[in-house]
Amino acid sequence: MKLQINSITDYHTSYRESIEDPAAFWASQARAFQWTKEWDAVLESDFTGGYNRWYMGGHLNITINCLDRHLEESSDKTAIVWEPNDPMQETRKLSYRELHSSVCQFANGLRANGIGKGDRVCFYMPMLPELVIGILACARIGAIHSVVFAGFSAASLADRIKDASCKMLICADYNIRGPKQIPVKSLVDEALSLGCECIEKVIVYRNTGGGIPWVNGRDYWWYDIIEGQAEECTPEIMDSEDPLFILYTSGSTGKPKGVVHTCGGYMVYTGYTFNNVFQFQPGEIHWCTADIGWITGHSYVIYGPLLNGATTLLFEGIPTYPDPSRFWKICEKHKVNIFYTAPTAIRALMAAGDEHTIGHDLSAIRVLGTVGEPINEEAWHWYNEKVGRGIAPVIDTWWQTETGGIMITPLPGITDTKPCFASYPLPGVQPILVDVNGNEIEGNNAEGLLCIKFPWPSIIRTTYGDHERCRQSYFSAFPGLYFTGDEARRDEDGRYRIIGRVDDVINVSGHRIGTAEIENAIDEHDNVVESAVVGYAHPIKGQGIYAYVILLHPVSDETALFKEINEKLVQYIGPIAKADEVMIVSGLPKTRSGKIMRRLLRKAAEKDYENLGDISTLLNPEIVEEIVEKSKLKP
Ligand code: WT7
Repeated sequence: MKLQINSITDYHTSYRESIEDPAAFWASQARAFQWTKEWDAVLESDFTGGYNRWYMGGHLNITINCLDRHLEESSDKTAIVWEPNDPMQETRKLSYRELHSSVCQFANGLRANGIGKGDRVCFYMPMLPELVIGILACARIGAIHSVVFAGFSAASLADRIKDASCKMLICADYNIRGPKQIPVKSLVDEALSLGCECIEKVIVYRNTGGGIPWVNGRDYWWYDIIEGQAEECTPEIMDSEDPLFILYTSGSTGKPKGVVHTCGGYMVYTGYTFNNVFQFQPGEIHWCTADIGWITGHSYVIYGPLLNGATTLLFEGIPTYPDPSRFWKICEKHKVNIFYTAPTAIRALMAAGDEHTIGHDLSAIRVLGTVGEPINEEAWHWYNEKVGRGIAPVIDTWWQTETGGIMITPLPGITDTKPCFASYPLPGVQPILVDVNGNEIEGNNAEGLLCIKFPWPSIIRTTYGDHERCRQSYFSAFPGLYFTGDEARRDEDGRYRIIGRVDDVINVSGHRIGTAEIENAIDEHDNVVESAVVGYAHPIKGQGIYAYVILLHPVSDETALFKEINEKLVQYIGPIAKADEVMIVSGLPKTRSGKIMRRLLRKAAEKDYENLGDISTLLNPEIVEEIVEKSKLKP
């Protein structure tokens, strides 16, 4: 891999070069990888139409770079360390050679079962090495993977399968998380009964060996697929702009959209950022606790580390099982050097008490990362002191599913860290703040809407099957800019602090959920006429879900209604979308144009009654008093 940025001067030089001549800068970064044919042009961008292309005409296969390239020198090196949910069960380790063989074998199995370049393959699997093997096998043969977080409901899985018309679904029999076993295959069957005719075959990995429903001629065991397949597989040579994967994420309107990333740009950017952001040193163990069902897992559990020949740790379980010292025990056991997690996990572990961090040897930890949501000051300090022992710097990394890789972050040991600040843009990243009219807010000590004014290699290419939605969502609010949906502040030294979303997206425990999706699910309840959902400050989750509902008939048992509403949310979205608070109201505050005034609902949810703002424009101002009174009665 290319030499790292290794000093502050180096960072400034790199940054300047990346702005002055982006094509030259990104060409030189791309040369750190193996291409079977070099690109004809580095980039082509049209923010008006939402079109961005990188390394046009270049040919590659990302798995050559993740696997084959490391075989010569480090075939015995551990690629994956798998830590099971049950601490008594044995750790599994796969060397680069073993991972390469397994990927090739499964890739051959996929080909033998009719999967080829451009076909969509859906994964609904727990955190197992086989998930990584399956994903890389798709990449090997040019199939497009679409991973669905295994915590989503059958209905959500069905929506995603249909949207991408996936041909194959790969799952496990059961998923084990903490003390629970989740019947994944049963959920799959339920999803497939919701009109997923596109699925021809289901491949099941035997994880627990528990009994499962089975459809002959459609369902196949993983081991039957690989049976007799060769451990070498000729990679499909991909065009740089061929899609690598689809990953669904929520927006402010409608159903989740399938963010499309392509082979060349995504490879360069995740490889580059992993190397630089974590200041990766050969031989280090990297542990990103994110589930592979999210972009963080794609980029920093799988692709970024493997592109750099790192050892990536995969954990099947949850931070609090069997007790809140589990993370630290794993760090000690495997001498983890880079630890990357979410603020919600930090807050949950902090709340469990300091004693869980005491007595574990965390001295191997060199860098601590956080991602997914704003980190509060208290959690930042706790992480820095209790886990980082005041030595390992905390890097607060800001990015999105749509950006593919980390965009704004401190560089450990190179730039300073400041609690709650994602700090400085990486080379190639050009953030700007604008006001609601799109005017740039210049100078430091400023606050505004966060936009990016120039493309980077892993910028979203399209939303699957509906490019107009991509253009609308990211490139239309402020012509000529990519709009992130976030609000940010720039301090006196130019560091960025991410304040949060300004659209109708809630960030619950680092998971992005659209209020529209939640409302649609709640409205499925027979007794609900209308609902409005807002996010509000929650001590562990960052944001909690607060639902206001108008009922058809009054109820005597509000607790039962609350439970039923949550059942709908679990059914339509998944347990992550459960409401934290439900308020029954006789009306919702609406403007004369019929828009719900969510600002007011957010204030009531947070019991902030001082500054309700101008309510005179409301169609029904009398409702405000009712909401405020009811909110005062809430805990
Ligand atoms: C949204 C993107 C990409 C990683 C996982 C989330 C919020 C992300 C930070 C951070 C404050 C953050 C933003 C962003 N976010 N990182 N370091 N500080 N907020 O990916 O699901 O696409 O969500 O997460 O609001 O827009 P995602």
